[in-house]
Parts: sequence; C-alpha cells; structure tokens
Amino acid sequence: MSEIPPIALVTGGGTGIGSACCRSLSAAGFRVGIHYRNSKPGAEALVGELSNAFAIQADLKDPDSIDTMIKILKEEEGRIDVLVNNAGDNRNGPTPSMKLEDYDAVASLTRGTWYLTKLILRRFMLRQKNSRIINITSVVGHTGNRGQSPYTMAKAGLDAFSKSLAKELSGRSILVNSVAPGFIKTDMTDQLPEEIRESILSQIPLERMGTAEEVAEAVVWLATNASYVHGTVIHVNGGMYGG
Ligand SMILES: NC(=O)c1ccc[n+]([C@@H]2O[C@H](COP(=O)([O-])OP(=O)(O)OC[C@H]3O[C@@H](n4cnc5c(N)ncnc54)[C@H](OP(=O)(O)O)[C@@H]3O)[C@@H](O)[C@H]2O)c1
Repeated sequence: MSEIPPIALVTGGGTGIGSACCRSLSAAGFRVGIHYRNSKPGAEALVGELSNAFAIQADLKDPDSIDTMIKILKEEEGRIDVLVNNAGDNRNGPTPSMKLEDYDAVASLTRGTWYLTKLILRRFMLRQKNSRIINITSVVGHTGNRGQSPYTMAKAGLDAFSKSLAKELSGRSILVNSVAPGFIKTDMTDQLPEEIRESILSQIPLERMGTAEEVAEAVVWLATNASYVHGTVIHVNGGMYGG
C-alpha cells in the first residue's frame, strides 16, 4: 500500500518564489496546496504541472476569507504538515511621503499571516506530529532599506514571529524558522533600471542575483531534513549579509 504523502501549503504559490517552493516541495514528495489570491491562472497551471497538487484561493488580508480556506482544507485535506508563509506585499516610497494606507496595505498581510498560522496550528499542527512552519522574510528586515520602511518592519516582525513561535511550541515537534532571501531574479527585478541593478549587484559578493529555486532549496531542506534548526533565520543572499 502506498504511503500517504505529507501536505505542504504555500501561500502566494501562484507566482515567483512561491511557485518555485511548490515545485521543489512536490519533487521532494509532498502533496502541495498552492494558495493564491489573484493569480488563479498561475496556480491552476502549476496544479496541471505537478503530480499531486491542489489550488486554493484566499485574500490573506480578509480574516473571513482565511476562515473559509481553513474550513475547506479541514474538510478536503484533513491535515497540513508544512506551512510556507510566502505571500508578501510591498509599498515603496520615502517615509515622509507615504500614506497611512501604504502602511496598512503591508501590515494587514502580516496580520493575515499571523491569523492563518494561528489557525493552521490550532486546527491541524497541534494535533499532529512533525510539522514545519517556514516564514519567507527578507534581508532588508535585517539591513533596512531606503524607501521600504513598512516592508522592512513587516519582515523583521515576521522573523521575530518565527522566534516567538519556536519558544512557544517547545516540545510540540513543530519546527519554526524563517528563510530570508536577498535580491532574487524575478519579473520585478528584471525590469529595474540598469543603474539600480548595478548598484544592487555591487552589494552581493557572489556578483549575481539569486534564483527563486535557490530560495526553494532552503525551504525544502527545512521541510524535510532539518531536525535541530528551530527559531532561526536562514539567509539566502549570495553573501550580502550574514546575520
Ligand atoms: N523577489 C525578491 O527579490 C524577494 C526578496 C526578499 C524577499 N522576498 C519575499 O518573497 C516572497 C515572494 O515574493 P516574490 O518575489 O515571489 O513576489 P510576487 O511574485 O509578487 O509574490 C507575492 C505573492 O504574494 C501574494 N499575495 C500578495 N498579497 C496577498 C493577499 N492579500 N492575500 C494572499 N496572497 C497575497 C501574491 O498572490 P497573487 O498573485 O495570487 O495575488 C503573490 O503570489 C514575498 O514575501 C517577498 O516579500 C522576495
């Protein structure tokens, strides 16, 4: 009889780093829940591509939408073994010019990440054994960055969330960690003006941007092989910051 595969839920799995995490977790033997908000075509294409995956929609800024997603997951899947909190939002600009709405746009996704994690713990992981929570944060939550004050606050807060949960969940066989990417080659970074790309590259000892697959490697390692890594941040940034 074939063994039932563990289930990994990846938020923001329809695009970029989230999609790479879905592919790598699938290759590692997980059934993959590809969460999306607007990127239904990306999520559905990935379901078609992977051998064992499903797509599920929710706006993580809306608690009712998260409640509905949890209800569906409980009814249709029954367990979640790995949660990858990858969804992220950003607003750029100098702090004095930013609006309160810009801050709220970023902070409300952090709130949704907290709420989703709380429900995944309560409804699934606290009743199971051997679960993993992986928060995708950012190097700029450690170094700071011009024009990204709400985003850097949110990402630093998410790293602190990993550390707090790790302490709270002692003895529960649930490992909680962050993966903090540096500058990763995505559609967005491909469109940066040449001088900004040059300035970014000059800060990276490996002299190139990372790939989404290289971030996913760290996620899969935490989801599968890690056993004594808990409450910490794994930096995937080509050497630009070591923690
Ligand atoms: N790219 C980089 O260089 C870099 C560096 C450091 C950290 N990161 C972090 O890595 C993660 C993925 O980024 P990415 O580069 O792959 O960018 P991306 O393609 O723009 O991914 C962002 C994802 O977040 C989801 N999302 C945004 N708001 C949401 C909401 N209200 N509810 C549910 N989902 C929501 C989006 O889903 P939909 O498209 O379905 O709406 C999208 O899939 C983010 O947390 C980002 O901060 C990226």
